[in-house]
Amino acid sequence: MIFNFYPNLCKDIAMKKMITLLTSALLFTTLTAHAAEPLALQQVMKDLGKNMQIVTDGISREDWMLIVKAAPMIAEHPQPPFAEKMRIMAFMGSDMPKFKTLDGKTHEAAVELEHAAHEKDGQKVTLAFQKLQTTCLNCHQIFRAPFVAHFYGKPAN
Ligand code: HEC
Repeated sequence: MIFNFYPNLCKDIAMKKMITLLTSALLFTTLTAHAAEPLALQQVMKDLGKNMQIVTDGISREDWMLIVKAAPMIAEHPQPPFAEKMRIMAFMGSDMPKFKTLDGKTHEAAVELEHAAHEKDGQKVTLAFQKLQTTCLNCHQIFRAPFVAHFYGKPAN
């Protein structure tokens, strides 16, 4: 009687192993599919980059109105959708306030840039622009690499 029991037990273990294997494979596929998909934040960033280029062009041409238009697009950049924000917050944990503060610095610097452009003061605009660039760099130096590693599973360039 007892011997009859063993083959079933073996089958059970094999089945469990199979299920575990399949679950892991499925989980892996889901995670990697997710990882490959760029965050909405990345598009926000690309647009920030484009608007910074417009500002550079405005400085070169002393076209202050161009900067008056571009600076608010930087200051009031769109936010990622709610679900993505949740993913970002979950990843950032206790670093979230720091991230928000750095984002706030970019906002303030872009508002200053807009004011300088309104004044048509080239020196002020250039200084404000440099300050703004520094706020971008400050966040990137801390957060970009861990972000890219976490959400895309690869090192940032
Ligand atoms: C509060 C943090 C923070 C600030 C401030 C910030 N960035 Fe970023 N930036 C990021 C993160 C995080 C990434 C990586 C996002 C990703 O790859 O999904 C990134 C990536 C980028 C990229 C690369 C996007 C790509 O194609 O991979 C550009 C360009 C960029 N940022 C521009 C800017 C500019 C310009 C500013 C300032 C006006 C700025 N960022 C301010 C956090 C920030």
